[in-house]
Amino acid sequence: MTDKRPILTLITGADRGIGFETAMSLAKKGQHILLGSRNMVRGKKAVDKIRQAGYDAELLILDVTDQTDIDRNKLIVNEKFGYLDTLINNAGIALDNHEDAATLSTNVIRKEFDVNFFGTVSMIQAFIPLLKRAKSGKIINVSSNMGSLDLASDPNSKFYNVSSLGYQSSKAAVNFATITFAKELADTNITVNSVNPGWTATAFGGRDTKQPVPDGMQTVQEGARQIVKLASDPRNDLNGTFTENDGSLPW
Ligand SMILES: NC(=O)c1ccc[n+]([C@@H]2O[C@H](COP(=O)([O-])OP(=O)(O)OC[C@H]3O[C@@H](n4cnc5c(N)ncnc54)[C@H](OP(=O)(O)O)[C@@H]3O)[C@@H](O)[C@H]2O)c1
Repeated sequence: MTDKRPILTLITGADRGIGFETAMSLAKKGQHILLGSRNMVRGKKAVDKIRQAGYDAELLILDVTDQTDIDRNKLIVNEKFGYLDTLINNAGIALDNHEDAATLSTNVIRKEFDVNFFGTVSMIQAFIPLLKRAKSGKIINVSSNMGSLDLASDPNSKFYNVSSLGYQSSKAAVNFATITFAKELADTNITVNSVNPGWTATAFGGRDTKQPVPDGMQTVQEGARQIVKLASDPRNDLNGTFTENDGSLPW
């Protein structure tokens, strides 16, 4: 008997930006999208856009910093589907923009860790049991080249002189979570990988999207490409990697 159940993909923070583009692209490939948004109006609008294009998506109201919300959504997915193929931890914030670490508020750093790191870890912990029921489970953590310790400490890297302690350390911590869960789940059906979308034209970090796109900034399609590639690869044979469109990145 063939397995007819759809590939089920949950994406956090997917009502706009790279998350939405990933949702639309994977829906076009026939995946059933559980579109995470913490805003009912924006979330519904995003789901409607995918449905109007003729593809499958449904809304999960989900704030990744709220454990009650995460547990409620886990129950919903369990009751409705009983499994999850792919979890894409995309929700992210950047509140410190090249500020001196000497004076940066630790409250700002805590907020960034709350979404970027603790949100990611909480989602993984909650959904592992459902991912284990997939034929081939995937966890994709949307990280950043700004979280690469190797690049930040390499005088020849363009990231050497970047200083956003809160955002960078929270993404470095995301990468550590990727390595840890990849090893812990290596004997299961689940792979865990980090992806760097690259500098992308979204509203991220408070960017005004009405402003002209600076040189070197990618489109959202380019930003979502490597995430979509991993999420739609039937082989699912990468585990514990950190990649971008151009290939591997140093941790
Ligand atoms: N754009 C870039 O240049 C770039 C580069 C490298 C990595 N990244 C990473 O790519 C990911 C997506 O970024 P983006 O550029 O698409 O940014 P974006 O347009 O600002 O989208 C971020 C999404 O995350 C959601 N979010 C924030 N806090 C959340 C929470 N507590 N719970 C659930 N959702 C939450 C936002 O929802 P609200 O509207 O409700 O806040 C929004 O839907 C992030 O992880 C970011 O770090 C981006």
